[in-house]
Amino acid sequence: MSKVQALDRPALNALLCAMPKAELHIHIEGSLEPELIFALAHRNGVTLAYDSVEALRAAYAFSDLQSFLDIYYAGASVLLQEADFHDMAWAYFLRAQADNVVHAELFFDPQTHTERGVDMATVIHGLKRACDRARAELGISASLILCFLRHLSEDAAFETLEAALPYRELFIGVGLDSSERGHPPEKFARVFARCRELGLHVVAHAGEEGPPEYIWNALDVLKVERIDHGVRCVEDPALVQRLAADRVPLTVCPLSNVKLCVYGQMSQHAMPALLAAGLCATVNSDDPAYFGGYMNANFIALFDALPQLGAAEAYTLARNSFEASFAPAADQARWVAALDRCFSG
Ligand code: HPA
Ligand code: ZN
Repeated sequence: MSKVQALDRPALNALLCAMPKAELHIHIEGSLEPELIFALAHRNGVTLAYDSVEALRAAYAFSDLQSFLDIYYAGASVLLQEADFHDMAWAYFLRAQADNVVHAELFFDPQTHTERGVDMATVIHGLKRACDRARAELGISASLILCFLRHLSEDAAFETLEAALPYRELFIGVGLDSSERGHPPEKFARVFARCRELGLHVVAHAGEEGPPEYIWNALDVLKVERIDHGVRCVEDPALVQRLAADRVPLTVCPLSNVKLCVYGQMSQHAMPALLAAGLCATVNSDDPAYFGGYMNANFIALFDALPQLGAAEAYTLARNSFEASFAPAADQARWVAALDRCFSG
């Protein structure tokens, strides 16, 4: 691994961009760029509360998670037809390919759409068509994870699961997103138990704004396989030990954390502590159209602000992303071999 010696900043950034990587925490509705929001609004005859792309983008100044979610759900209101879901995901895959993402697991929020009268089939078929096309035309492996909105009830989550079951083969797992505070994981204990019985993978957002207790309960009550965000684990040494011992992956989203004011600045980010503790941390973009960048922008912003992160950490983060994925072991091994070649060249 010759590149794991000290590199100057341009060489390190080039390596961060060139290395193959997996993205495990991307809300596909959060990849809707303002230009596409306006194009879809025009196509579908939807009236937006903003006059221009620039005015919409100017509204992207968030003080916390909720202030973002309000505008994120408004942006998703332009998605009505199967082609809209396809076009949104396809635009993401083109950006992912440019960042050398070779595997992506996409979150989607069906309740945001079914509440507006859009059919579950429209959402899932549009996204799946883009995933199939990404594999065929871009060589990107992609799968879908259905998220329940935690500000809604567990009964609503059960109804959503029921509506999605005819398409069971088209998504690999379920997650839990939206407003974290006041909506702890245990609110969804029964629906997650049902999802596990169905053989679905299970993940949950926890410890983004919520306390370490939410991470404990995501692990012990929901029995999740990965924690999305999870950065607040550093407040609880016993929890860090547990995450390390069980090698529970954390899908960390650096630009999101700064945009949503989890950290005042990137130099305060917990990533160096997470890696030093031996956790299986990964880098992801969360909602790249809203937070200022896709995968490589996240890596570069993180490494620029934290000079203690170098080529060794870049390798670890990319390797973790493959290990933490739900892709078959043979695919993971192939991607790790490509990563090794990238670092030995
Ligand atoms: N946190 C919680 N819910 C979300 C997010 C997030 O960062 N993005 C989209 N839904
Ligand atoms: Zn998220």
